Amino acid sequence: MTAVGIDAVEIWTGKLSLDLPGTFAPQKGEDPEKYTKGLGLNASSFPDSYEDIVTMAANAAYRLMERKGLTPDDIGRIDVATESAFDNSKPVSTYVAGCLEQVYDGDFHHANKGERKFACIAGTQSLDDAYNWIKAGRNRGRAALVIATDTALYARGDAGEATQGAGAVAMLITEEPSLVELSTEQGYGSADETDFLKPNQQFPSVDGKRSVQVYLARMREALEDFESVAGASHPDQYAYIPFHTPFPGMVRKAGLLAYRHMIRDTAIEDDLADEIGRQPREEAFDDADAYHEAVREYMDALKGTETYQEWYAETIDPTLTISREVGNWYTGSVHVARISALKHGYENGLDLAGSKLLVGSYGSGAQAEGHAETVCEGWHEELEALDIDARLESRYDLTWEDYEEIHDVHNHDLDVDIDARTTPEDEFVFDGWGRMGERKYRFAE
Ligand code: COA
Repeated sequence: MTAVGIDAVEIWTGKLSLDLPGTFAPQKGEDPEKYTKGLGLNASSFPDSYEDIVTMAANAAYRLMERKGLTPDDIGRIDVATESAFDNSKPVSTYVAGCLEQVYDGDFHHANKGERKFACIAGTQSLDDAYNWIKAGRNRGRAALVIATDTALYARGDAGEATQGAGAVAMLITEEPSLVELSTEQGYGSADETDFLKPNQQFPSVDGKRSVQVYLARMREALEDFESVAGASHPDQYAYIPFHTPFPGMVRKAGLLAYRHMIRDTAIEDDLADEIGRQPREEAFDDADAYHEAVREYMDALKGTETYQEWYAETIDPTLTISREVGNWYTGSVHVARISALKHGYENGLDLAGSKLLVGSYGSGAQAEGHAETVCEGWHEELEALDIDARLESRYDLTWEDYEEIHDVHNHDLDVDIDARTTPEDEFVFDGWGRMGERKYRFAE
């Protein structure tokens, strides 16, 4: 059977950054540690005035194509996942193709283009679509370009404002991939939920606390469903577990939940029994509240054990390093977490080829999905080619006044004009409006 998976990735971060403990917290009159320790965030990325979901997507895709020496003929499919679309009909992928056609001789006239929507899980769903297309033999030897791009902005004053972010992740899906091979084993946890939505509005309506609970409930269902096809998971089975990361504090909760689930009826649970007891079993309780309280107590105790903390430090924490510096990229978030994990392996000289990742995606509304991936032989060269740290460090550091202006310039209901904080170079930029209200783009040399 032909291996299909992610051959290469590129990220494009919004070119501005907001220091959360240093600039945001004092304005909100809050303790900086709420951000660094509680939410787990140091900074958020923001788009400059000439950036948007199209420029970030096109710039990530352009870098990817250049690095891999591709031309439009090599791409048979362009799927964009976003929850920040500005058009209910024309997909972002057509704009992206239009941008790329400005710099390449060929065109994408024979590539299938689309746009996927299901909150933050749409990036993973687009990966699935590409995988299925190749597995079905419909790709004619061509690759799929999957791009997750978002400007995750909240209304000023919303609790979610602390978790904003903006960026794009471009992924090349091919046969015989260099980075990770996907598998057919997947699990879903899906239900009609009202935790986060944008009913024809730019900024989301969010029930933040509820969204945290829904994330965990659906993720647990997805893990159980995954195990029904892949067999019981064990914590030592996976080199890393990248989760959807709206903010690292969310993943702290997801990691603990996954660990508790995976150690049930294993030697790890037995070994920990002397220290914290065994996990409460539902059948031993008459009353659901008492059972849930016992589970909470067990989780609190589990969190404090050295066994758990070591596992977390090796398997989960490395997935969060980029997220801490960029905030939430919605559809791109879980894919940033995968890159972050592999970057950790690369920087620490780990031999990851053949290792497994368990990837946990989530989209509000709500659906979680879990699947396993296998790291491929070429992963090291792919990671070597990335310059993520340099890109993050070169962002312009926003003052509070800058931040207010930038938030306004990206607010679709306001018409403000400001000076860009950075100078574009070899990248696509927003270039004003066309006669039918379309957004126009050009390549800035
Ligand atoms: N030092 C250390 N930790 C602190 C702290 C301090 N000074 N102050 C607060 N914290 C901790 C809190 O205990 C909490 O951690 P916990 O959940 O593990 O208990 C965390 O920081 C966040 O604090 P909280 O008061 O809950 O923040 P908030 O009321 O501003 O809202 C969200 C947090 C997540 C609800 C909000 O950011 C939001 O709505 N985000 C958008 C929706 C989202 O991303 N949902 C996730 C699922 S997709």
